[in-house]
Amino acid sequence: MATVDVRPFEAEHAPDVARLATTVQWPSLTDPDVVRRVCAAPGATAFVALTEGALVGWAQAPGDGVLQSHLSFLAVHPEHRRRGIARALLVATFQSTGAARMDLIADDGPVTDAFYASFAHRRMSGFRLYPGAARLPEG
Ligand SMILES: CC(C)(COP(=O)(O)OP(=O)(O)OC[C@H]1O[C@@H](n2cnc3c(N)ncnc32)[C@H](O)[C@@H]1OP(=O)(O)O)[C@@H](O)C(=O)NCCC(=O)NCCS
Repeated sequence: MATVDVRPFEAEHAPDVARLATTVQWPSLTDPDVVRRVCAAPGATAFVALTEGALVGWAQAPGDGVLQSHLSFLAVHPEHRRRGIARALLVATFQSTGAARMDLIADDGPVTDAFYASFAHRRMSGFRLYPGAARLPEG
């Protein structure tokens, strides 16, 4: 089986990450320029997985470098799953944030549930907020 190389994201990876986002149906990340900006954001760390010259996985996580990081994106190409690639990406990204812990939200589903539950974890509930949806205090 071909070896997998997990290494820090570089700007030249952006078009391949955008293609991966298309494959996994993440429409907000199908523009390479958006991918570049997301990965270069202050405090963000990002890694890619390459095999035989092809990009097959990507992870990105912002963090404060001390306590808290947040796994924003993690995806592996469908043809390369169940080979430990997401695990390797998550471990590399988490370590690189320098934070003590990592939070994440994910769509409900048996695969993401099984994947994240395979790490040491504590289950909590989460929210995703959008601008303009703020509820003003009464009175
Ligand atoms: C979730 C995802 C990233 C997992 O990628 P992956 O490279 O296949 O995961 P790994 O091979 O590293 O799996 C590690 C462990 O997670 C669990 N796991 C992963 N996929 C699983 C599945 N389909 N069924 C059951 N358990 C699974 C297993 O415990 C597995 O270890 P094992 O193979 O030794 O049993 C991948 O399915 C994916 O990209 N999905 C679409 C995007 C997504 O949902 N991203 C996460 C939300 S941000």
